[in-house]
Amino acid sequence: MTDTAKITLGDKTVDSPVLSGTVGPDVVDIRKFYAQTGAFTYDPGFTSTASCESKLTYIDGDEGVLLHRGYAIGDLAEHSSFMEVCYLLLNGELPTAEELEAFDNTITRHTMLHEQLATFYRGFRRDAHPMAVMCGVVGALSAFYHDSTDIQDPHQRMIASHRLIAKMPTIAAMAYKYSVGQPFIYPDNKLSYTGNFLRMTFGVPAEEYEVVPAVERALDRIFILHADHEQNASTSTVRLAGSSGANPFACIAAGIACLWGPAHGGANEAALNMLREIGRPERIPEYIARAKDKDDPFRLMGFGHRVYKNYDPRATVMQKTVREVFDALKVNDPVFEVALQLEEMALNDSYFIEKKLFPNVDFYSGVILSAIGFPTTMFTALFALARTVGWVAQWNEMISDPAQKIGRPRQLYTGPAHRPYVPVDQR
Ligand code: CMC
Repeated sequence: MTDTAKITLGDKTVDSPVLSGTVGPDVVDIRKFYAQTGAFTYDPGFTSTASCESKLTYIDGDEGVLLHRGYAIGDLAEHSSFMEVCYLLLNGELPTAEELEAFDNTITRHTMLHEQLATFYRGFRRDAHPMAVMCGVVGALSAFYHDSTDIQDPHQRMIASHRLIAKMPTIAAMAYKYSVGQPFIYPDNKLSYTGNFLRMTFGVPAEEYEVVPAVERALDRIFILHADHEQNASTSTVRLAGSSGANPFACIAAGIACLWGPAHGGANEAALNMLREIGRPERIPEYIARAKDKDDPFRLMGFGHRVYKNYDPRATVMQKTVREVFDALKVNDPVFEVALQLEEMALNDSYFIEKKLFPNVDFYSGVILSAIGFPTTMFTALFALARTVGWVAQWNEMISDPAQKIGRPRQLYTGPAHRPYVPVDQR
């Protein structure tokens, strides 16, 4: 393996160092390229650009591999818990039993929101999308928790991280409660992270809420599957926002805003809406034809991925989880049959085979969340809840990295060159 790449531009040839990670493709270090050649590199959408060094998550898109700190997502989904995965992402190692208990205790004790934030919710329309509420409320946390906004202090950074992980279920559940006009439910420290979220979402003060263990386990697994995913759009947004020194609450609010889009976290909502619109297996060919039609902007939602070109390992776990939830809740939503048949037809269609388009994590997650009782508008809010740990872990990693600089891409300018100003009466 060469340790430099020779790049020739006109009459100049520069040697750029080639960096190797633990696994994965080598990376050509072009940091001095502009100084050496006077040229920029061009990569809209960052399809060939590593924006940072990271020890958190690794994806091999061709092999369908996703590792969190080296552990396979399938193993974590089967044997671990979301709290344990949060600890792993933040600290680098799986916790001992005592460390896990202490961490769980810390998170549990940060779940309450400043009471004044309840008033803040009342400023929103009742029909506001939960993601709109989440963007606003999470951004507003920096106005309430001043003692954890000094980003140069690792202790304050960790407190902010714990607060964000702990408060996100409360914030998301309150967004839901507000939309249905029910009273907010305070957290209950006796319950697990996920059980508590279920109770805050579906419980009412008038009666006891019983957490169904199979549902709690399924939702916890969904959280694990969404915990982190390398330098995706929202994570890169968090890093970019954080690179200017912005406080963690503002950075995570930026991540939530980016996640909302239908090409990213919004795809789970769009996928279930699409499956419901299809409604019956007989209509699937019509939708497959539309997805293949170049003149139709329609895409199969929950299909395709920028990095996975074999399969998305998270989708495999999701499909299994659908059956478990259906069995536990004794539901049988016909939309699951539509999803299974759509997957099968698409996977046997040359268009999807050639373009390496497979179901992604969002294809089945909506079916599960809907069976649990979440409205589609809450799906992306749940994604944001679970991804918060990835965002804060990546943000912490970035701030601690001595190579960190403000993110400032350059551009290929194609607008008018300098021209004289023309006064309005002469135009
Ligand atoms: N249905 C039909 N055709 C598709 C689809 C799809 N879902 N996805 C990609 N294609 C086609 C696309 O038209 C293009 O064809 P051509 O080369 O002929 O122009 C080709 O496949 C490559 O697509 P691309 O848009 O250049 O690929 P990308 O890497 O920029 O986009 C993606 C990845 C996930 C945005 C895209 O596959 C997509 O829009 N999928 C649907 C939305 C979705 O499910 N998003 C969730 C992603 S996973 C969860 C997350 O990370 O948030």
